[in-house]
Amino acid sequence: MNDVIVIGAGVIGLAIAIELKLKGISVTILRKKELNIASLAAAGMLAPHAEKIPSTSLFNLCKNSLELYPQWVTKLKDITSRDVGYLPSGIIAPSFEHPTASSNGGIWWDRQQLELVEPGLTRDIVGAWWYPQDGQVDNRLLLAALNQAAVELGVEILDNTAVLSIEEKADKVQQLITSTGPMQAQSYILAAGAYARELIDLPVSPIKGQMLAVQMPQDNFLAKVIFGDGIYLVPRSDGRLIIGATVEEVGLANYNTPSGINLLLEKAIAIYPCLKDYPIQELWWGFRPGTPDEGPILGRLDAENLLLALGHYRNGILLAPVTAKVICDLLLDGQKDPLLEEFSPHRFISKS
Ligand code: GLY
Repeated sequence: MNDVIVIGAGVIGLAIAIELKLKGISVTILRKKELNIASLAAAGMLAPHAEKIPSTSLFNLCKNSLELYPQWVTKLKDITSRDVGYLPSGIIAPSFEHPTASSNGGIWWDRQQLELVEPGLTRDIVGAWWYPQDGQVDNRLLLAALNQAAVELGVEILDNTAVLSIEEKADKVQQLITSTGPMQAQSYILAAGAYARELIDLPVSPIKGQMLAVQMPQDNFLAKVIFGDGIYLVPRSDGRLIIGATVEEVGLANYNTPSGINLLLEKAIAIYPCLKDYPIQELWWGFRPGTPDEGPILGRLDAENLLLALGHYRNGILLAPVTAKVICDLLLDGQKDPLLEEFSPHRFISKS
């Protein structure tokens, strides 16, 4: 019997599986067929300071994970020899008004200072908050590296294996019923993102994000990530400029829409006008696993051998290293990080 089965092969599921395997645990990952998972939908911003994180505990969890990033990507590189485009190069949040208060550790740049770094932003922008602590990772490269690391370490990955139900008895998971038959392990980890709701009665719902990429000309690369109001521009070193993302409660609507893409382009051109003539390379979408308080769900619900690691909403890429660490510590040593208290699944269970 397996030690652990991980349900879900996005960044969160893979990161946990790798961490467990490195500790000598035998792990199987179950991957449904290719879906528009959150890991592919993201732009890979590592932005706890620039994003408006709605609670202190979530901010602390995000910050904690940001601090783990350098060693985590180095570990992945040691295993796979792959670079994942991790760039702790700061994020700029442009503003159309002069600031009246400070902003979450940001440094205010007036127009002149901003222009030294990003001369192409619209003239209507009066200055910007500069968040030197934030950065980006290429989420597609990251997902590929995690997959390779899992394979190289000997994690078993079962493709096209959908979990149909989780069978529990006496507060213990007995087995999973899957599309390829029943499966057992000593412990189970549910990391199925927006799809977890099909398996467990918790308020995780898909929040669609539409995105697109344009190609920047070689002589005019945007230097930094730009984080605007309802829009972000993430320049990759190969010249792709990722533009994201809509935030839509439309269920699993598996397509781009003219209005979604139009909204993104309007906002993006309003901030950075020269991109209006850049060739469009790609449009796509994905589903963030949203929760009512925008925090992830980490820890046990009823079953003693089932851990939940889901509902990371806008911060899945950022939270992957810390999620892998706290879930492993909890599973292997029973060590509960104090930060976990705030993210228990029990907060969504009514007491009546
Ligand atoms: N973290 C950015 C987004 O989810 O759109």
